[in-house]
Amino acid sequence: MASRHPDVDSVRAALALAVCAPSVHNTQPWQWRVGDTTVHLYADDSRRLPQADPDRRDLLISCGAALHHFRVAAWSFGWDTVVHRFPNPAEPRHLAAFEFSASTPTADMVAAVRAISCRRTDRRRVTAWEISQALLAEIIEAGTAEGALTSEIPGGPTRIRLVRAFQEAARQHDADPAYQAELAAWSGRHAAVEGVPARNTVAASDPLTREFHNPTLTEAVLHDLDVRGGLLLVHTSSDDPLSRPRAGEATSAVLLAATKIGSTTCPLTASAEQVTMTPRRALADVVRPL
Ligand SMILES: Cc1cc2nc3c(=O)[nH]c(=O)nc-3n(C[C@H](O)[C@H](O)[C@H](O)COP(=O)(O)O)c2cc1C
Repeated sequence: MASRHPDVDSVRAALALAVCAPSVHNTQPWQWRVGDTTVHLYADDSRRLPQADPDRRDLLISCGAALHHFRVAAWSFGWDTVVHRFPNPAEPRHLAAFEFSASTPTADMVAAVRAISCRRTDRRRVTAWEISQALLAEIIEAGTAEGALTSEIPGGPTRIRLVRAFQEAARQHDADPAYQAELAAWSGRHAAVEGVPARNTVAASDPLTREFHNPTLTEAVLHDLDVRGGLLLVHTSSDDPLSRPRAGEATSAVLLAATKIGSTTCPLTASAEQVTMTPRRALADVVRPL
């Protein structure tokens, strides 16, 4: 009789791919427990960023991305997953319990799992072709299918409002010594398995790009370009503990779909992180007319 759950090696392989998920400042704020027939995902609050992420939103988004990566990896190994979200009301850190059933991986799933290994956050300016509307629609559909609204930010006044929200966030971050100390602890090292390494960050040339500590990556192109990266906004109708991992799952799906077509990607969250509400209100204004 066929097994009803993956063997330990398959679970290990899927977890090795799950932990390639993007996470805020590369904090990897998750813990995994493996049972006989189930796998469990927990939020690791010891890795929260009190300054950049005072209300745990980025932490839960990061865990949602890992949740989605795990599901994609399990699918590609022939295991469909049933996800029980917040299975234990007495333990809010317990984000998900996964059960498995055998399935046949499709070519699409195999391509998605390949994208997990290729995806990297790339903070450099974009230099190449614009994405066609058909491919953009595919990326947006990948995010929407994971239960969060995914919309393209058009040029013109909406983009200008978004840029202003990020500029305001950057001003507040610059003026906050506690935020700067936390950033210095989590970025700018040369060899590190966690945190954002110096070699992955550029001196920000765009108001949307977060300023990391000690950037050493050089821009591929030095002159000004007309080509601007496309902007997608992943948002949920509420901001509760259930919605935040959902936003992370959708973000993961968007990033993998974009990676599959050869596009570079960079999550941008600074304007949603502030202690003061000004940039977040500005962000809400951007969402409203979409
Ligand atoms: C919730 C979340 C917020 C993030 N915010 C930013 C950001 O504002 N700016 C940025 O350059 N990268 C951001 N990142 C990308 C992380 O820094 C990146 O995922 C991490 O350093 C690991 O690197 P990798 O994505 O190349 O694997 C964010 C990622 C997540 C999941």
